[in-house]
Amino acid sequence: MPFDVQGRLVPGAVPSTRKPPPSIVRPPYVGRAAPPAYSGDNTYTEEEIGRIRASGRIASRALDAVGEAVRPGVTTAELDRVAYESVVSQGAYPSTLGYRGYPASSCTSVNEVICHGIPDDTVLREGDIVNVDVTAYLDGFHGDTNRTFRVGEVSEEVDLLVERTHEAMMRGIKAAKPGRQVNVIGRVIETYAKRFDYGVVRDFTGHGVGSSFHTGLIIPHYDSAPAYADVIVPGMVFTVEPMLTLGTHEWDQWDDGWTVTTRDGSVTAQFEHTILVREDGYEILTVSE
Ligand code: MF3
Ligand code: CO
Ligand code: CO
Repeated sequence: MPFDVQGRLVPGAVPSTRKPPPSIVRPPYVGRAAPPAYSGDNTYTEEEIGRIRASGRIASRALDAVGEAVRPGVTTAELDRVAYESVVSQGAYPSTLGYRGYPASSCTSVNEVICHGIPDDTVLREGDIVNVDVTAYLDGFHGDTNRTFRVGEVSEEVDLLVERTHEAMMRGIKAAKPGRQVNVIGRVIETYAKRFDYGVVRDFTGHGVGSSFHTGLIIPHYDSAPAYADVIVPGMVFTVEPMLTLGTHEWDQWDDGWTVTTRDGSVTAQFEHTILVREDGYEILTVSE
C-alpha cells in the first residue's frame, strides 16, 4: 500500500490518535481549530530561554530514540510511537498532536515527501530516507527540531543530499548574527545549495518559536531580500529548517491536507534546530546534552 508500482509514496493507514495522560499539560490550541493569536516579540528572558532549552532537549532526545529505531522493515507509525513515548516519558506534550487537527506526535517525511508526512503503515526499505520532526511542549514553551535518517545504506546521491542539507542548516545558523536581517539566513543557504544544483524549498519556512509553536516571524531558506527584513537581535529565538531537493522546489499536497511532496517526485531532505541568537554568536537549543 504505502509505495505504488512506480515506487512513489501513497497514503497509508493512520493509527488512531493518542491521548497523553492528564498529568501532561496541553498547549492552548489542543481541541481548537487554530492556535490563539500571538502578540509578543521573538525575544525572551533568560528564564524563558531556559524553558525553551528544556523543551528542546526533550525533542532532541526523542529524535535520538527514533534514530535508534530506524531500520529497514520499521513503519513510520512505529517511529511516531517511539517519539510519543519519549516525549511523554520526559513529562512533555508532543506539540504537533492536535495542532490544527494534525493527528500524530511527529511528522515522518519519506523520500519525496518535503514535510508534514503523517506517520502510517508505510514500511521503510533499505535506501529510503525519513525525516522525523518532533516538537516538545513543557512549562509553557516549545522546542522544535528535526533530522533526516538514512534507512540502511542509501545511494551516494542521496547520502550527499542528506549531508549537505545538514551543512546548509549549519551555515544558515552561523549567519544569524545581531544587526543583520533574517533574510541573510536564506541567502547563505541558497548560495550553498546552488553549488550542487539542489532545489531550495520556498513555501515552507523557519519560524519564531517559544510560548507559541509558530509566532508569526518567518525565516525563509532562499534569498528573499529585500523581503523578510526583520533585524536579528540578541535574545531572539527561531528555527532554521531548510528543505533541499534533488530536483524542483515545486510541491503538491495530498488530500490529507498535510503531506507535501516534490512535484517531480525527486528526493528531499531537511534538518531543523531551534536557535537562540546571542550578542556574540548563537546557541542551539535543541541538543540532547
Ligand atoms: N514541526 C513543524 C515545523 O517545523 C511543524 C509541524 S506542524 C504539523 O514547523 F502540524 F504538521 F505537525
Ligand atoms: Co519548525
Ligand atoms: Co519542526
